[in-house]
Amino acid sequence: MKFTKTLLAGSAAIALSTSAFATDLEVTHWWTSGGEAAAVGEFAKAFDATGNKWVDGAIAGSGGTARPIMISRITGGDPMGATQFNHGRQAEELVEAGLMKDLTAVAEAGKWKDVINEIGLLDSCTIDGKIYCAPVNIHSWQWLWLSNKAFADAGVAVPANWNELVAAAPKLREKGMVPLAVGGQPWQTTGVFNVLMSGLGGKDLYLKVYDAKDAEVAGGADVAKIFSALNDAREMSRGSNVQDWNQATNMVITGKAGGQIMGDWAQGEFQIAEQVAGTDYSCLPGLGVNELLSTNGDAFYFPKVDNAEISAAQDKLAEVLFAPTTQVAFNLKKGSLPIRKDVDLAAANDCMKKGLAILAKGGLVKSTDQLISPDTATQIDDLMTQFFSDESITPEDAQKRFAGIIKSAD
Ligand code: BGC
Repeated sequence: MKFTKTLLAGSAAIALSTSAFATDLEVTHWWTSGGEAAAVGEFAKAFDATGNKWVDGAIAGSGGTARPIMISRITGGDPMGATQFNHGRQAEELVEAGLMKDLTAVAEAGKWKDVINEIGLLDSCTIDGKIYCAPVNIHSWQWLWLSNKAFADAGVAVPANWNELVAAAPKLREKGMVPLAVGGQPWQTTGVFNVLMSGLGGKDLYLKVYDAKDAEVAGGADVAKIFSALNDAREMSRGSNVQDWNQATNMVITGKAGGQIMGDWAQGEFQIAEQVAGTDYSCLPGLGVNELLSTNGDAFYFPKVDNAEISAAQDKLAEVLFAPTTQVAFNLKKGSLPIRKDVDLAAANDCMKKGLAILAKGGLVKSTDQLISPDTATQIDDLMTQFFSDESITPEDAQKRFAGIIKSAD
């Protein structure tokens, strides 16, 4: 639907008549890798087709770099038109401070509640009964990506699960390869830990720690096994020497590393490199042990503005992001699962098909973005960064500190 003068009253309509009814909307996000840029291009294309204009506000680095910038612009009175956050609790305080736009009317008109794949995602956008964000995908962290070439070069079979990767690690080392590529940014080491928790420990353990926030379990024997696996991961990651997640993915793509634990956004990189799932690389959801996928992912939030033209463009963007055609085009490039259950992903690759099958079986679990506050997440990030960079920290020491964080977690 195009803007028409009748939608707007008085002076706003007069102002619009000189701008051919197009509205520029700055959209901030942290999608800067090759695969991510290709995917976000689909959003821009769909929005521009409404007669408005997507003004791209990509912030390089990672979510950890981008989010403080986004938040300070919103709280500092210089809001963008729309911004990405992970759906969950990252924007909770901005909503509570009254800074974000209520999207309930758009969500009701688009019947979001009826078509959404996982209602928990909309619940995460809802505060006091009002919907404040448009979720755009389900990304899950629980994937092990493996280079088929690396294992062929090392003369071992491609592992079918985490334990087989650990067993194959010495052979990869002999050939000068890094068994597990891990980028240096804090969120990546935390990701490895959380995936070991759900993949090796299973759903109950993961939820006892992150949902029930049971400090006794966090300090107990089952979580000790996870820290021992984390010790293996630390050892296997030595020599990665990269910071960004996509540099680590590139080590897998080029056969310099055996594998990487990373969210399914990594698929976008394999696609850009024209690698084929099952032939050039393999993917093991839940580390090949517990086939469980977390409902991580992205949502768009819209800062409140006192401008009818921008406000209408914000509603239009929310509608477009959720539309079936946009959902298919975007998610195929992004490597994520669509937010709608009424779209057909016939073109999905082998790995996405595995994800869709797990989704159909109800194998989803809430993400840590949904379960713990950003403050608790930062404390875990700090602990994991120290553990990976300082080999004098034992798994036992690290577990003690972890249990302390969970004890005071909110
Ligand atoms: C986002 C993904 C993104 C990844 C790496 C995650 O927080 O949910 O969409 O691809 O970060 O940038």
